[in-house]
Amino acid sequence: MVEVKNLTKSFEENLVLDDISLDVKTGENAVVFGRSGTGKSVLLKCIVKLLIPEAGEIIVDGKSVYSLKEKGLNELRKEIGFLFQGSALYDSMTVKENLEFPLIRNKKKMSQKERENKIHEVLKAVDLEHAIDKMPAELSGGMKKRIGLARTIITEPKLILYDEPTTGLDPITVKEISELIKELQKDLNVTSIIVTHDLLCAQIISDRAIVLRDGKIVYDGGLENLTKSNDKFLKDFFTNENIVVKNGSLNGK
Ligand SMILES: Nc1ncnc2c1ncn2[C@@H]1O[C@H](COP(=O)(O)OP(=O)(O)OP(=O)(O)O)[C@@H](O)[C@H]1O
Ligand SMILES: [Mg+2]
Repeated sequence: MVEVKNLTKSFEENLVLDDISLDVKTGENAVVFGRSGTGKSVLLKCIVKLLIPEAGEIIVDGKSVYSLKEKGLNELRKEIGFLFQGSALYDSMTVKENLEFPLIRNKKKMSQKERENKIHEVLKAVDLEHAIDKMPAELSGGMKKRIGLARTIITEPKLILYDEPTTGLDPITVKEISELIKELQKDLNVTSIIVTHDLLCAQIISDRAIVLRDGKIVYDGGLENLTKSNDKFLKDFFTNENIVVKNGSLNGK
């Protein structure tokens, strides 16, 4: 579904992604870990051509993203959901309008009634039906995040890129959101790339873990082996993360 080939991206002197290659298969959930500032968000943005790399190629669903003209790129983007690190809701629109917007732009034309049903369905999935007429400013950070998630999945994309879908959420919500992502994969065979620092989220959803460090992929494989790794960097990274998980499951009970 996604092929990243020899991707290199820098900002002036700052080399962020250094000749990165990876493949994500259809129906796979790949989790991307890495310290703050290692280029996880940059990688997701390159995949949808929100950023343009110096070198490399990206193929999504058989199409070479950087060769597509504007029309082709817009068509492809309709198949891709992107949950930005901030929830990026439109501040001047209600929750309902925020959710309706992608449906109106979507290529699959829907009647008013179909749109309303779909809006209720996704709000139910994120447990926020009561927030339908609220403005983003009236929502808590975690609620905005969940509405952002509802807006990402509402068009039923084939590929979803999640940039920290659970950061800042309480452990019970982390579990619910992670299970929702897992269900999308199981029921609709959605392919996902999930950037997260949250091991609990990763444990629920991931088939595969990728770790970025200093512009390179330093691990690509199962989550199980990663958390048991003897590599000093990985050990330190996941020892710290484990503390969060332990607290998380305690609080979640
Ligand atoms: N538009 C931009 N212009 C210049 N530099 C940028 C831009 N976007 C990202 N960078 C730089 O690229 C590097 C990687 O940023 P990125 O946002 O991908 O980090 P990240 O791994 O997502 O971190 P975090 O976990 O904090 O979200 C950082 O050094 C950042 O300053
Ligand atoms: Mg980021």
